[in-house]
Amino acid sequence: FIHCLRLFVTILLLGTWGQLYMFRIYVVTEIQQRSPPSMISLAAGAPNPNTFPFQSCSIQVKNGDMLTFDETMMKRALQYSSSSGIPELLTWMKNLQKNLHNPPTANYSAEKGQMDMCVTTGSQEGLCKVFEMLVNPGDNVLLDAPTYSGTLAALQPLGCNLINVPSDQHGMIPGGLKEVLSRWDPADVHKPHSTVPRVLYTIPNGGNPTGASMTTQRKREVYELARQYDLLIIEDDPYYFLQFDKPWAPTFLSMDVDGRIIRTDSFSKILSSGLRIGFVTGPKPLVDRVVLHIQASTMHTSTFTQLMVSQLLHGWGQEGFLNHIDGHNKKENPCTKQYPDLTFLFPSSLSLSLCVCVDVAEWHSPAAGMFLWIKVKGVADTQKLIMEKAMEKEVLLVPGGVFMINSSDPCSYVRAAFSLSTPQQIDEAFKRLSALIKESL
Ligand SMILES: Cc1ncc(COP(=O)(O)O)c(C=O)c1O
Repeated sequence: FIHCLRLFVTILLLGTWGQLYMFRIYVVTEIQQRSPPSMISLAAGAPNPNTFPFQSCSIQVKNGDMLTFDETMMKRALQYSSSSGIPELLTWMKNLQKNLHNPPTANYSAEKGQMDMCVTTGSQEGLCKVFEMLVNPGDNVLLDAPTYSGTLAALQPLGCNLINVPSDQHGMIPGGLKEVLSRWDPADVHKPHSTVPRVLYTIPNGGNPTGASMTTQRKREVYELARQYDLLIIEDDPYYFLQFDKPWAPTFLSMDVDGRIIRTDSFSKILSSGLRIGFVTGPKPLVDRVVLHIQASTMHTSTFTQLMVSQLLHGWGQEGFLNHIDGHNKKENPCTKQYPDLTFLFPSSLSLSLCVCVDVAEWHSPAAGMFLWIKVKGVADTQKLIMEKAMEKEVLLVPGGVFMINSSDPCSYVRAAFSLSTPQQIDEAFKRLSALIKESL
């Protein structure tokens, strides 16, 4: 009660309309969540869940477990919830994050950049809100293109200059970053109107579309350059759990002594993409700002899907979750069914399928993720080849231009995703692609 009273007094002292708006949609939900059941609330503008048509539900998990929502739980699932995410999911994920990455910032004070987290509606929402928070028109933003088209779609409308940092099959090249940054003097970083970039974005594992994974040494060097130029690094890592080899690579978050990493995680590739569950991890003052934006836009990620995932994870525990990822129990594990023989996909079965393309294409075997980035020899731009000829032959790939900063520049690459098709389908697809390329030469 004293806690609630303190919150109310703080709110009364706040005063501005903006903060009163916060009070309406956010603080009341927060207070209610923490209140004993005996609290009588006439405060919240929430609908009465007794009027909702859904009563209860149970969801069968593939391992035989049941997730059950009784009437009380169902009422909660159908109601507004906290903008930062439901507490039990957040706590579970914070513990996982600490165990996997041991972030130096975990025990810092809030002002020094203590690690904090919030739930987002897929990592795409997190990324988009992080960019909107940090990037102003005219800002210089660093990234290693080709890159995820969703990132380009979120950044380009912000009117920033996207600067390409050279990269190869091991991701961003530190020497290339140093070269790009040498246009500026680190002494100018904090001067008013400085044009020194403040944000660097990268996909460290199984990059989309390139399949590239960054080495630990490169991450250390990039982090050091970020310290020199006081850059924030956005570590977009939805393929972290799809690394083919153990131990999993150390993350930027695990190296973050300064509180300059904002990491986005996703459950899309390992639990469900349709449930839309992702996470932002970063320094508390910045995560707080993302939560303010969530309050003003989506209000929160679906309470129902958060509760569903939270029940699953609490039932599994960290060990069960990691077993699911590893596919220890291949028979029962949907992940290994979805990514068949994940560990063996490279180099054997996929490489075999690719043999038919060996005269007409070049590629690197990825160490993580779902994508293969193929350079088509002798074809300057793959747009027509893929969008017209390949379609006719019933094989669907993505022309590489989609992932370039300037998508109309000619691009000789195509992206193949190997997550959804059977080895036989992949085999056939590459036969068709190879024949097409030969015809067009
Ligand atoms: C690199 C990268 N980041 C972010 C996302 C967004 O994922 P989601 O919003 O489903 O978590 C994707 C999806 O494909 C991706 O490839």
